[in-house]
Amino acid sequence: MGTYNAIELSIEGDVARVNFNRPEKRNCMSPELHRNMYEALDEIEAAKVKVIVITGNGPSFCAGMDLEQCFLEPFDKPELMAEINHYAFGWFTRIKKSKAVTIGKVNGYCFGGGMALAGVLDIVVAADESLWGLSEVNFGIFPGGGTTWTVCNNMNRKKGIHYSVSGETFTGKQAEEFGYATFAVPLAELDAKTEEVIGKLTNKGRIVLGKTKEVYEKVLGMDFEEAIDYEMAKFWELSRETNDDWVRTALASFKRREFKPGTQAYTLVNDV
Ligand code: ACO
Repeated sequence: MGTYNAIELSIEGDVARVNFNRPEKRNCMSPELHRNMYEALDEIEAAKVKVIVITGNGPSFCAGMDLEQCFLEPFDKPELMAEINHYAFGWFTRIKKSKAVTIGKVNGYCFGGGMALAGVLDIVVAADESLWGLSEVNFGIFPGGGTTWTVCNNMNRKKGIHYSVSGETFTGKQAEEFGYATFAVPLAELDAKTEEVIGKLTNKGRIVLGKTKEVYEKVLGMDFEEAIDYEMAKFWELSRETNDDWVRTALASFKRREFKPGTQAYTLVNDV
C-alpha cells in the first residue's frame, strides 16, 4: 500500500478507509491531498472493495479547499492552478462514479468543498454537533466546482438558496433534516453507527451494490418507459455477470425456506 502525507489509507477485506490527515489545518484539501486521493483511488479500485469510508482526523471532517494553497498561492500561475484542478475534480468525479458504496463520516467541520464531498458521497453519517456551511459567499464567490450541483441534489430549493446566499452555518442534525446527511447521531455514537451501516453493506454482493448505484443515478434522468427498458437491460447484465447468482443460489435457498429475503441477506456464491 502506498504511503501518503495528507491522508491515511487502509484497505481490509471489503472496506477501504480514508482519513484526511491535516488536523492542524482542519483537513482542508491541499493540492497534495488531492493528488493523494487520486492515487489512493487507484489502489482502492484495484482492491475491488465494497465500501469506502472517508472521515477526518481531529475536530474537523473537511474545511473545504485549502484557500492558500489552491487559490492564493497559485493564482498567478494558471498552469499550476489547472493541474491542481485536474486532480481535485478528477478524484471528486471518480469517487462519485465509484462502484463501491461511499460513506462520509462527518465528525466535525464541513465547509464549502467539504460539503461538495459529503454531497457526492452515497451515505453520510454525521455527528449531531458537526458544523456545516457554504462559506464561499463570505469571501465573495459562490459555491463552485460542483458544489452548487451538490446543494441542488441534496437539499430542497428554499434551504439550498438560503444557505448559499447567507453563508449561515447549520449542524449535522439539521443536515439530516435537510436530506444532506443520511443519519445524524451524537458524536459519541458516530463510530458505532458508521460500523452498523458498513455491516449492512458488506453482507451484500459486490456487483449488485455497484449496479444498484449505477441504475439509481442513471434512472434519475429518465421517464418511466425508458427506465423500464434500461432497468431490464441492466438486470440481465447483472444476472449474467454474477452467473445468475440471484436465482440459482439465493432464490433456490429461499425455495428450501432457508432464509427470509424481507429481513435477511443471503450470502451470495458468485457475486462476492
Ligand atoms: N484553507 C486554508 N487554511 C485553513 C482552512 C482552509 N479552508 N481552514 C482552516 N485553515 C487553517 C487556519 O488558517 C489555521 O491555520 P494556522 O494554524 O496557520 O493559523 C488552521 O487551519 C486552524 O484553523 P482555525 O481557524 O484556527 O481553527 P478553528 O477550529 O478556530 O476554526 C474553522 C475552524 C471555522 C473551520 C475555520 O478554520 C475556518 O473558517 N476555516 C475556513 C472554512 C472555509 O470557509 N473553507 C472554504 C470553503 S469554500 C471552498 O472550499 C472553495
